[in-house]
Amino acid sequence: MNTKLKKTKPTNIGVEEAKLLTVENVTKVFTKGQGLAKSKIAAVNNVSFSMELDQPEIFTLAGESGSGKSTMAKLILGFEMPTSGRIRYKGERIAKLKGKLEFMRDMQPVFQNPFETFNPLKKIDTYLYETAKNFRMAEAEQPQLVEKSLELVGLSLAEVKDKYPSEMSGGQLQRTSIARALITNPSLLITDEPVSMIDASLRMSIINLFKRLKEEQGVSIIYITHDLATAYYVSDRIAIMLRGQIVEMGSVEKVLDKPLHPYTQLLKASIPTPDPAHKWVSDIALSDLETKEFARVGCKFSGRCPKVQTICKEREPENYMVDGRSVKCHLYK
Ligand SMILES: Nc1ncnc2c1ncn2[C@@H]1O[C@H](COP(=O)(O)OP(=O)(O)OP(=O)(O)O)[C@@H](O)[C@H]1O
Ligand SMILES: [Mg+2]
Repeated sequence: MNTKLKKTKPTNIGVEEAKLLTVENVTKVFTKGQGLAKSKIAAVNNVSFSMELDQPEIFTLAGESGSGKSTMAKLILGFEMPTSGRIRYKGERIAKLKGKLEFMRDMQPVFQNPFETFNPLKKIDTYLYETAKNFRMAEAEQPQLVEKSLELVGLSLAEVKDKYPSEMSGGQLQRTSIARALITNPSLLITDEPVSMIDASLRMSIINLFKRLKEEQGVSIIYITHDLATAYYVSDRIAIMLRGQIVEMGSVEKVLDKPLHPYTQLLKASIPTPDPAHKWVSDIALSDLETKEFARVGCKFSGRCPKVQTICKEREPENYMVDGRSVKCHLYK
């Protein structure tokens, strides 16, 4: 049974027909706080990017806490609706696709905490079979689909059979949650910090699994992370997010070998080399800074930028194409 969404659509979508995903000028505004302290922030602010249909890739969204990465993921998955802009998946608006079985099979999420993905009272194999059933995969094929997806993540049915989530390691469980996502043979995985809760020693095996899924199964992956080291290793392209905006985007080699945006330069310089398990954290109290930067009129980074000019505080920079990547910075006008 072909479980994929149709690759071509008999509609008049034109160029977009050729895309796996198109995010076009997407903004998501949230209201934070209450009463007098109420304020609005654009958690995702005029974001655009696209992914090709027949060219599987790993696309990383990176940036410090509160930059809008998870909100972007939720918008793509249809868990949140954009305030403005549009998102299309294989040529169809997400607004139309959300909740539809075919769409949910084709784009699967993998979450940060595998212990939360599974019901602690349910045996792992039961959960996987139920997933196959809930997605209404052909009944006769369900056992095969479960076995094959476990195999794809380097596990066997024997290893998970009759086990409860608490009897597995974080690494094994995250593999299993990736297996769960693969049961429906998806074209796109949205993975939000998938390795941050896993033992540092097991992290690379999951990252390598992503690489293999792309190369051997043709699965595209949106990889959300704080960790530029794994992003560099695994991704094809990267978008650096800051306060809801993409400030630099291009091939991972271009962007991380020679970052042009002062914010990317800061992020790169902040990679914690001694302890890869440590998350990148700003040395400035984030909540205060967050409110200020979201509200800033010019460049969101102008308050922290070592290369700030007068214009940066007055006008939002455009996206400039420089050395094969886009960079949202007045320095490159
Ligand atoms: N449902 C919501 N209501 C109000 N504000 C929200 C909501 N969801 C997210 N936000 C705010 O939007 C901003 C971006 O949050 P988001 O979770 O997308 O960031 P993130 O980049 O994923 O951060 P982290 O790296 O910590 O996971 C934050 O200021 C957050 O508090
Ligand atoms: Mg997040």
